[in-house]
This record gives sequence, structure tokens and C-alpha cells, in this order.
Amino acid sequence: MAPNPLFRGLDSQETAEPLVVFIFGVTGDLTRSKLMPALYSLYLDGRLSRIRIVGFARRDWSDDHFREQAALMIESMPGSDEQRRRFLSTLAYLRSTFEDDSGYRRIPEYAEGFSNRLYYLSTPPSAYEQVIDGLGTHDLAADQDGYTRIVVEKPFGTDLQSARRLNELLLSYFVERQVYRIDHYLGKETVQNLMMLRFGNGIFEPVWNRHHVDHVQITVAESSGVGTRGNYYEAAGAMRDMVQNHAFQLLAITAMEPPNDIRPESIRGEKLKVIQALDRVTLREPDEHVMRAQYTPGVVDGEPARGYREEDDVDPESRAETYAALRLFLDTWRWQGVPFVLRTGKRLSRKITEISIHFKDPPLRHFAGSGHAIDRNVLAIRIQPDEGITLRMNAKIPGYESAARPVNMDFSYGTSFGRAVPEAYERLLFDVMKGDPTLYARRDEIEASWAFVTPILDYWRDARGALYEYEAGSAGPSEARRLLGSGSRRWRKL
Ligand code: BG6
Repeated sequence: MAPNPLFRGLDSQETAEPLVVFIFGVTGDLTRSKLMPALYSLYLDGRLSRIRIVGFARRDWSDDHFREQAALMIESMPGSDEQRRRFLSTLAYLRSTFEDDSGYRRIPEYAEGFSNRLYYLSTPPSAYEQVIDGLGTHDLAADQDGYTRIVVEKPFGTDLQSARRLNELLLSYFVERQVYRIDHYLGKETVQNLMMLRFGNGIFEPVWNRHHVDHVQITVAESSGVGTRGNYYEAAGAMRDMVQNHAFQLLAITAMEPPNDIRPESIRGEKLKVIQALDRVTLREPDEHVMRAQYTPGVVDGEPARGYREEDDVDPESRAETYAALRLFLDTWRWQGVPFVLRTGKRLSRKITEISIHFKDPPLRHFAGSGHAIDRNVLAIRIQPDEGITLRMNAKIPGYESAARPVNMDFSYGTSFGRAVPEAYERLLFDVMKGDPTLYARRDEIEASWAFVTPILDYWRDARGALYEYEAGSAGPSEARRLLGSGSRRWRKL
């Protein structure tokens, strides 16, 4: 039997090698928490045999110091001493500032013998332009004997104008097929499974539309606060940090039309259409459809938690939103009139990312009034944690009466597959090495989402629109209730 094309990317074992990966801003937190563990894991899986990893940063580190640091980053991971030693021996450190010519001039020397090249931009966003210019003006952007690709971390711009400028700069040196804009939510296994659920099964598509769906909720809740990132978050806020990218990607995959085939451009084209179809009514009446809030002191996981304005590097009078919620409509045949409500926030009662499809009531409610709740059917897709899918339906309570109660039919990744879900970065790095951009954001997609979000940010920047409050550890501001309308709709419990 021919392999299911949806699995194509997962089946392929090939990365083009020999490969040299340059990580710009290697001394930052992303290398420690995500990149190095992902590279090591790919190495342990036998997917990287001829690789060199070059850290490029301004700190005064040597090759040996970089290796010692990297050893700590992978300390708790599996593998023998010999495997670790071999992996660490592939590491080298190139010390340079991002504006200094000499650093870029030394890149060919570090890439000697490696025909494929990957640049990973994980510097502070303020240095992106310098590094891209540095690579471009030193003729380092073109494909060499193999490929040359560049991965750009988020945030990709801070509004439509800056995102466009960044795209233009990138595309003045690279061509689109070389550019990989990362959104790590696309690398999450359950996000990919959402496509499989929709297009690999026969039973969901017929009901996945305005005839059967009452509304859709997308929740990206976190219990953590801003931690040490106060500086960044003050300028970003929840809309830039989570909505424009992660939440919109989830929306696009939930609402997109079935692509004609599963080539990267077909999938990315369908996702783009969703963002382009967002009804501007949300922007015309922002107070009706959008809201923002900030956390005040409270208790999270049994521990006292500071309010946002007391966090490190945060202005005591800050108006940055740590919570944002939107009611969106899509101007398409499939979704006309169906509200998509999105919410995201920090310091909520728990970490959960979930998409829930709330189906319409049956045409006659024969069992209502039996003294027990008859709820709408809900298909909940848990992106994290406890990855899985639950179908909530009404069932008769055993006994002589016809009383009903909602029950859950559950699929859990952990129990069904008995193995851990791989880290998003591992999958995404592997894809860029293979040259599969399906799970990366395309230029037009990014600009379309900024085009929608920027007017809301401008509205808030001009001190219009209320800034509500919610206690740390709560489910968010009570005012968010109104985005669901006046009927019987409720936000899912966190
Ligand atoms: C990042 C945001 O993109 O995603 C962070 O900048 C956020 O603020 C993080 O905490 C959440 O990612 P995950 O994978 O933990 O859900």
C-alpha cells in the first residue's frame, strides 16, 4: 500500500549532509532550553552523522567553554558518555559581535568541507537586521554546493510595517524557499494531528461547518508569569507574543479548507485564506469583539504570585496586556456566522492549550427538563499537556428514569502510543534540514496576520479600549464572558 501522504514528512529519514549549522546568539536561553537538546536528540536518533554546529555570539567563550556549556544543556538526556563526547566534538565557537565584519568573513572557514548550510537566527530581534545584512553583504546567502537556508525565530516583526521590512530585507539576499520562519506551535505533534484528524478521517469533515458547529473556542493558557522576560514582554504583550502567531496558526489549521494535496504550498495557501477571510467587523468594533487584561497578585499552584506590575523590569504603571481574547468571524461559505473565540493569558490557573468545537443542539430537546443538564456536544483537541482528543456527549444515567449526564469519550496519546510526544523543535529542525517548509510560516501568512492584528494594537496604544484585571491563578477576567454572547455559551473550564 502506498504510504499515507500525510505522513510523508515523518517517514523520510533524510537530511542533506554534510551540514553546518550556525546559531547566531548561541549564548541565549533558546539554545539551552530548545536548540541544543533538539540537535542532540536528532543526533542520538542517528539523523545527523556529518554535522558541525557553530555558535556565533559576542561573549568571550572558547570552543571548550561552549562544549562545557552544551554538556550541561544535555546533561539529563539519554545517551552514553561516548555518544555525548562525539556530539560535543562537533561544536565550535565563533566569537564576534553582530556588526563586526570579521565574524562574517570567518564563516567560510568554519563551513569548509560542509556543502549544506543552515543559519539559525536566535539573537534578540533588534539584531536580526544586522545579521541578515552581514550574511548578505558578505555573499553568504546564496546556495553553495548544497543548500543554504535561514531560520528566523519569532517575534517576526512587531507590527505589519516592521514585518514587511524584515521580509523585504531577507528577500533582498535570500529567496523565499531558503527562508524558514519558525512558529514552534506548528511543530507540536497534536497540532499536526489536527490535520490528520480532519483530513484522514471520514466522520469529521461533514459536520465541520456552520450547519453543525455553534462556535469554536481556542485557548492558549499559561500558569507561568513573564519570569525574566519583563523587558521583552513590556513591548510585546499577549497579542504580539501569542495571538498573531501561535493562536492564529491554530485557528488557520482548524478552519482551513481541505487542501488539494499535501504539498507545502497547498497547505500554506489554504491557511493563508483563513487569515485573509477574517471579518473586519472585529476591527470596526474592537470594544465589542476584543478585550485585554492584566494580572494582579494572586495564588498560582498554591504559591503566592506577584501582579504583573510588580514583576522585574516591568513599569509599575504598565498597560501591557497579559491576557487577550477575541471574537472572530470568517467570511467563508463554511464558517459564515460561526464565532471563533480565542483567549490567551499568563498567570492563569493552569497551562493548557486546547481547541474545542462546540456543536449545535439537536433540533428537538426531548430530554431537556429531565432535571439533568443536556450539554452541547464538544470535540476538544488538547494540544498540551495530556495530548489527546475528547468527545463530550450526553448519555443516559443507568436506572428507570430518562435522566442524562454528559460523559467523555477519550483518546490519549500517552496511553494509545505508549511513548513520549517529541519536542516541537526537534521536528522543526529536522524539517528545515530536509527542506520541508510545511510547518513554517510563509511571508504572506505572516503579513496577513499582522495586517489584522496591527489596527487592534494601534487602538490600544492610543489608550482606547479598557484594560481589565484578573487575579493571578484565576481563569481570567470575568468580562471575557461577554465575547461568547448572551446565550448559553460558556468558556471551557481551564
Ligand atoms: C513563546 C512565547 O513563543 O511561547 C512565550 O514567547 C510562551 O511567552 C511560549 O510562554 C509558550 O510555548 P509553549 O510551547 O510552552 O506553549
